[in-house]
Amino acid sequence: MREHAPDLRVSFCGIELRNPVLAASGTFGYGVEFEEIVDMRHIGGFVTKGLSRAPMAGNAAPRLIETSAGMMNAVGLQNMGVTAFVEQKLPAARRLHCALVTNVFGATIDDYCAVIQTLNAAEGIAAYELNASCPNTQHGGMVFGTDADLLRELVCAAKAVARRPLIVKLSPNVTSIATMARAAADAGADAISAVNTFVGLSIDASTRRSRLSNFTGGLSGPAIKPLALRMVYEVSRAVSIPVLGMGGITSPEDVVEFLLAGATAVQVGTASYADPRAVEHIARGLSEWCQQHNVSRIAELTGALDRTESKSPPPAKA
Ligand SMILES: Cc1cc2nc3c(=O)[nH]c(=O)nc-3n(C[C@H](O)[C@H](O)[C@H](O)COP(=O)(O)O)c2cc1C
Repeated sequence: MREHAPDLRVSFCGIELRNPVLAASGTFGYGVEFEEIVDMRHIGGFVTKGLSRAPMAGNAAPRLIETSAGMMNAVGLQNMGVTAFVEQKLPAARRLHCALVTNVFGATIDDYCAVIQTLNAAEGIAAYELNASCPNTQHGGMVFGTDADLLRELVCAAKAVARRPLIVKLSPNVTSIATMARAAADAGADAISAVNTFVGLSIDASTRRSRLSNFTGGLSGPAIKPLALRMVYEVSRAVSIPVLGMGGITSPEDVVEFLLAGATAVQVGTASYADPRAVEHIARGLSEWCQQHNVSRIAELTGALDRTESKSPPPAKA
């Protein structure tokens, strides 16, 4: 074991984070709801629930269900709207002692830009995460996230108005996430978030109906981790801007796996539903993991995956 505490700081598109663990959008409210639960001085930051130009009620219940090794949601981007957020939540949220990233979405490019412009005028926000990938509404951005030309147009327009770093959150529901990452980077994105949830369907055999009112939903949690890791790896090789990795992280070791795959920082989402302090536990555990594995600077893990062939198992006895 090393004697000195490892250096967990990472620099992410101009933002200095005390460690690479953030709470993911849609699983951490507007941050302030977790003030009494999570010690924010131990996490890198959090991403707010997606914000739209006007308030949205979201989809009808049932909209959250548990699946094997994960969960499906079809919340439908319920939120209070960007103006109410700036007036009612941001004054307290920006005092939470960690980086605050606001997640942004819209039905049209104009909507996205209007949300960003409202946020530009406010203090205390580190970056914008553009949700080009929600699978659960007609207008949640997935149309932008699955068409490279539309994504390029959206990112160009958002970048032209954004006064803060622009992180583009990609959909995994595409054939080539590398193509989408390149489109976002070419259009001026400062970073990529990967990935949002995978579109799924859960059927109740006895009623012969979908378990979710929205019919389909987004799958998240440990069930998607290997898929998300592969996509983070592909994105990080396709672009030179930094990557925020997420999908099924529940432990410090999972964080390390995402960093090795090429992420500079990560987000923890669904794990907060099982343990509301998960993001803090994971961030604290990272220091111990580094000490046990002789890692003095966490930043050195990014992209350090060893791609030499894994040793084959011994031959089975006849
Ligand atoms: C209930 C719920 C709501 C979510 N809402 C949003 C959202 O508003 N905007 C967004 O970009 N992602 C949203 N996500 C996606 C997560 O931020 C994350 O990308 C995804 O769940 C994968 O990470 P995880 O497996 O750790 O949950 C939501 C996820 C869940 C489970």
